[in-house]
Amino acid sequence: MLRFGGDYNPEQWPEEVWAEDMRLMAEAGVNMATIAVFSWSRLEPAEGAHDFGWLDRVMDLLHAHGIDADLATATATPPPWLVRRHPEMMPVNADGVRLEFGSRQGYCPSSPVYRAHAVRLARTIALRYREHPALKMWHIGNEYADHTLECFCDVSAAHFRAWLEHRYTTVDGLNAAWGTSCWGQHYTGFDQVEPPRTAPGPVNPSQLLDWRRFCSDALLELFEAEKAALREVTPGLPVTTNFMSILHGLDYWKWSAAEDLVTDDAYPDPADPSSHVAIALSYDLMRSLKRQPWLLLESAPSAVSWRAVNAPKPPGMMLLHSLQALAHGSDGVMFFQWRQARYGPEKFHSALLPHGGTDTRTWRETLQLGQALTALAEVAGSYEQAEVALVLDWDSWWGLEAPESMPSDRLKLKELLLDWYAPLHARGIGVDLVPPGRDLTGYRLVIAPNLYLCTQETATWLSTAPGQVVVGPFSGVVDPADQVHQGGAPGPLRELLGVTVEEFWPLHDEVRQETGLGAARTWTEWLRLHDAEPVALYQGGELDGRPAVTRRGRATYVGCRLDDTTPLLLDLLVRAGVEPMELPQGVEAVRRAGYLFLLNHTAIPQRLALTSSGTDLLTRTPMHGHAELPPRGAVVLRVEGNQ
Ligand code: GLA
Repeated sequence: MLRFGGDYNPEQWPEEVWAEDMRLMAEAGVNMATIAVFSWSRLEPAEGAHDFGWLDRVMDLLHAHGIDADLATATATPPPWLVRRHPEMMPVNADGVRLEFGSRQGYCPSSPVYRAHAVRLARTIALRYREHPALKMWHIGNEYADHTLECFCDVSAAHFRAWLEHRYTTVDGLNAAWGTSCWGQHYTGFDQVEPPRTAPGPVNPSQLLDWRRFCSDALLELFEAEKAALREVTPGLPVTTNFMSILHGLDYWKWSAAEDLVTDDAYPDPADPSSHVAIALSYDLMRSLKRQPWLLLESAPSAVSWRAVNAPKPPGMMLLHSLQALAHGSDGVMFFQWRQARYGPEKFHSALLPHGGTDTRTWRETLQLGQALTALAEVAGSYEQAEVALVLDWDSWWGLEAPESMPSDRLKLKELLLDWYAPLHARGIGVDLVPPGRDLTGYRLVIAPNLYLCTQETATWLSTAPGQVVVGPFSGVVDPADQVHQGGAPGPLRELLGVTVEEFWPLHDEVRQETGLGAARTWTEWLRLHDAEPVALYQGGELDGRPAVTRRGRATYVGCRLDDTTPLLLDLLVRAGVEPMELPQGVEAVRRAGYLFLLNHTAIPQRLALTSSGTDLLTRTPMHGHAELPPRGAVVLRVEGNQ
């Protein structure tokens, strides 16, 4: 079964409305609702005084209409009574300002008060609904790190110190790792260490890197604490929390290991004609996290309400974007939210059932989507590994994007990933994301767009790749403490790549440096080859005649940021034996096990040749030879021989 539904906030409506909600959910084919995400103050209006009556009735109604509950632990917004009694649980920013109640995620991740109350509430909810037949999944918190990623209060400082003590054992261990001999920061006790609050100048980057690790871990501890309470009461029920696509703040490799099902919230900007590419990358990450199907838990039926200008989705885009999530491995499509709010900061955010009611384009598209998901039910559960892998490592990302101390602040990991992902995506080539250390069997091409932070183990692992390997610029620069590998970059990757970087040579935004494989921008390097062949040489400028791209056996090093990686990539695909597809611009082709999704992201009709034949599940028509795709139209082919 494919999941269809969304966030349902019945507490924002009089109960008379609920009957209509149920009738319309059933009409649309909704089979799952996410409930009680922000309901703490309604479920526990005073400490220990619970009001579960309304939620009981909602759970019963859902079940009576065949709708399963993704039931939240309701801990995403602590209630005013708790905050007033314990103002110290509100987060403090880097400038020392304590934030106020009035929005959501108003908690310090390290607050023992918040944690104790959150765990208690999670357990209470679990005990109440453990036997309820509507309950199918637990939803802990909500979009961790959305508003509150970090807190700089004294409680957080103590938590950070404990985390550091666990990591380094002695303060001299910390001094050595953080290089505190620089700028006179030598500590003589852990009690002198603070979070990286706003300081007179740049903060120690090793300290910042540990802070990023700590902040991700501190929130994960919260998630784990609630999960432990749920596990005790309902050991067999899957537990999730909704991710936020590719998010800098949280190490999703670590987080997903703690989840039973990966779920994601995705909001590509309908006004950006290329937003489907970046979102495809994040969907591929979601599938790669646990190497299994995942679930799109939130998306927008049309406009969101949190951009400066919130473009609606034009007709057909809700279905198209939903099919895109399925293509990349989601086992359903859920939305924020079911019924459009009449008040609050999200009253202009679109919903499956808009303010205008059922005689609206959005509602008609909701019905159409429900039918499409029924037609595609057999796709659920299917999964296959891709032929190409992109390496993504949060430690390295955090190190790369540290403020104020790098040769250039222009290298952004998401952009570097997209430099490679976009041309692969444009050719219908499936891509998995992998963390350092994952089994690379079956990958014909492994690309590490950037590994600024790289250990010897990571370098050894990369050299076990069975096919072609590509490493991007500014890699192998530092160790896990952000200390520079001696002898020059790419440090532990020197053996694999056969090159040494003598000097980083970043470029100003407007500068282009010709390489013979197209222009480089943002970044170039002065390379010395000791056991590699030049593949492309810089032409003109200070680096004239020096190598820009090199190869040693199966390993390619790209010492610059290429404006367009396509020419190099096409050669690598041939070497790797990966077959690109020919697709019109804006048409996406995605294989999901025995299914081929063809998605026309353009506003004009498209026709493309088919190498496989089969049945279009959306129309139940056989197809061979070619496919006609209407504007923003799609075909989902069950490929013959895979039935
Ligand atoms: C996120 C949140 C939801 C809602 C939507 C709006 O996904 O989880 O509660 O705020 O954004 O886009």
